[in-house]
Amino acid sequence: MRHAVIMAGGSGTRLWPLSRAARPKQLLDVVADADGGAHSLLAEAFTRLRAVLPAERIWVCTAARYGEQVRAVLPELGADRLILEPTARDTANAVGLAAALVADVDPDAELAVVSADHVIRPVERFAAALGTAYDVLAARPRALVTLGITPTAPATGFGYVQRGAPTEVPGAAEAASFREKPDRATAEAYLASGEYLWNSGMFVWRAQTVLDALAEHLPESAAGLERVVAVPVGPERDAVLAEVFPSLPKISVDYAVLEPAATEPGRVLVVDLDVDWLDVGSWPALAGTLEGDDAGNALRGLTLLADSAGNVVFSDDPGHLVALIGVRDSVVVHTADVTMVCPMTDAERVKQLLAEVERRH
Ligand code: GDD
Ligand code: MG
Repeated sequence: MRHAVIMAGGSGTRLWPLSRAARPKQLLDVVADADGGAHSLLAEAFTRLRAVLPAERIWVCTAARYGEQVRAVLPELGADRLILEPTARDTANAVGLAAALVADVDPDAELAVVSADHVIRPVERFAAALGTAYDVLAARPRALVTLGITPTAPATGFGYVQRGAPTEVPGAAEAASFREKPDRATAEAYLASGEYLWNSGMFVWRAQTVLDALAEHLPESAAGLERVVAVPVGPERDAVLAEVFPSLPKISVDYAVLEPAATEPGRVLVVDLDVDWLDVGSWPALAGTLEGDDAGNALRGLTLLADSAGNVVFSDDPGHLVALIGVRDSVVVHTADVTMVCPMTDAERVKQLLAEVERRH
C-alpha cells in the first residue's frame, strides 16, 4: 500500500534567531493564513499529504526531543505513526529508519519521503506528481524516484538531477546523473545546459528498495537498522534503537544513496513537479510566506516602516514594536532574547554567526 513519511528532524540554523535548536523552523507558525493567523510548515506538509493518503498511512520522522511539539502541531497523526530518532544522524538514517519501520508493518509498502520545510502551490499538482511517481513503481519496482523542480537560479544549496531517456510513464524520465550541492560554477553550467532539475528532496520508492540501496551504499546503517527491527515493537526495540542509532554514519540520503545509485542506468528516475515551490531555508526565502506591503517589504508582527523597501521584518514579541526608517534590502528579526539585523545579501551568514554564539555561550 501507499504510505508517506515527513522528514521533520532538521534544525533550520539559517533562520536563527527565530529557529532554535529547541524549536526548529518546521514547528514555527511562519506561514500566513488567509484569516490573518499563521500555521507551521509541518502542518502544511501533513495537510498536503492528506490530499493523497488517509491519515493512518502518513508517518512523521523527527528527533525525540521534538516529539511532543510534533504531536501538538499534528492532532490527526496516528499514535504509532511518530518515529523518534534518539539523535539526529541526517536523512540517510532517518529515511532508513522510516523505511525499516514501515516495511515491518507493510512489507510491500510504497513509501513517499517528503520534506517538512517546503511551501508548495497548488496542492493538486503536487498530488498529481506524487501519483505519477507511485504509478511508476508498478513497472519499475527497483526504482528510486525523485520529484524534480525546474531550476530558476544556479543555487548551490540543492541537489541536481539530469533528465535522461523518457520512461513508459508520461512525466517520468530516467535520471542520467545526480549531484548534491554542486559548487557555483557547476551549478551555472547545469542551469545553462537545460538538462537538469533541482532535486526537491522528495522521493518515492518501495520501502524495501531503499533498504536494499542502503545495504549496498551505506552498509553500516543498513546493518544497524536491521538490528532494530529484529526485536519486537516496545521497550526492547526502543533500547536497541537508542544503542545503535547514535553511532550510524551521519550523512544525507542525497549523498549516501542518490549520487551513487544514479550511476547505475535506470535506477534513479525523475518525475517533474510543476508547482510554485519554496524551500524555506533562509530569511530571504521566508519572505515568500509572509504578508507583503506595497514597497516590497515582507512583514510579521508589530512593525512600523517609513521610507523603507525590500526588507524582511519579523517580530515574534507582541509587546515590542520594530520600527525602520530609510532602511533598504535588510533582514530585521526580533525575538524575546535576540535581535538580529543584516543586509539581505548576507542572510546566509547567519549560520556562521550562530556557530560563534554557540562557542561563546
Ligand atoms: N527526521 C529527520 N532527521 N529529518 C531530518 C534530519 C534528520 O536527521 N535532517 C534533516 N531532516 C529533514 C529536514 O527537516 C527537512 O524537512 C528535510 O529533512 C531535508 O533536510 P535539509 O537539511 O533541509 O536538506 P537540504 O535542504 O540541505 O537539502 C535537501 O533538500 C533540498 C531541497 O529542499 C536535499 O534533498 C537536496 O538535494 C534538495 O535539493
Ligand atoms: Mg531544506
